Amino acid sequence: MAKPEKLIENGIRLDGRRPDELRPIKIKVGVLNRADGSCYFEFGLNKVIAAVYGPREVHPRHMQKSNSAVVRYKYNMASFSVEDRKRPGPDRRSIEVSKVSREALEPVIFQEYFPRSAIDIFVEVLQADAGTRTAGINAASLALADAGIPMKSLVSACAVGKVDDTLVLDLNKDEDNYGQADMPVAMTPDGKITLLQMDGHLSGDEFKEGLEMAKKGCLEIAQLQRAALLEKYATRMDGESNE
Ligand code: CDP
Repeated sequence: MAKPEKLIENGIRLDGRRPDELRPIKIKVGVLNRADGSCYFEFGLNKVIAAVYGPREVHPRHMQKSNSAVVRYKYNMASFSVEDRKRPGPDRRSIEVSKVSREALEPVIFQEYFPRSAIDIFVEVLQADAGTRTAGINAASLALADAGIPMKSLVSACAVGKVDDTLVLDLNKDEDNYGQADMPVAMTPDGKITLLQMDGHLSGDEFKEGLEMAKKGCLEIAQLQRAALLEKYATRMDGESNE
């Protein structure tokens, strides 16, 4: 889409959201039978699937750590996930996203429980509309829980940014393309930040205010993540299965 004249009109964004509103979220835990844990996560027009394998043997073996598990995270965009066909295979961007996403989750995983083993996380982006790294982290956090990996807490992620000189939560593609700043954040429900990136410019005050907005967004996401886990795992008293 060509640059619109305004991205916010009368306090409402082009997709109808208020500045502090997340896009609609849909979550399904346990969508892949072969993986130890999995999750499908929709974040507006983003659609991602996360799969977790492990703890399992490490190959190649020289990557083993004698006192903890190695966590590996592979983020990949399907070639049909974006408007211009994405060239298959890793590129600089996907290597960066994989690294920061792994670092966003490692602090909550009890890696020391599984020496000499690997916990492999795969995230496939099926449809992208800005915010795929945050959607991937939200999905991966649930896939880890679904795999029964011991964790201190879940991790939730969303971006905050600036468009038309206004701070907005969870940028969509046009806001990301034509906005002034984009700041993805991941955190635990008790406010420990595990990912903070910044593209563009925010003043000190905007940064502080933006971080508060991201915190509220992450807490909202955490509640939905919890509900999605309960949907799969809560014992039903009426004898029906959760499937
Ligand atoms: O997706 P995220 O916001 O985490 O990362 P980004 O690098 O800021 O990318 C923003 C958006 O640009 C992606 O979500 C895609 O919609 C789009 N994109 C694209 O169209 N083609 C690419 N090769 C990479 C990204």
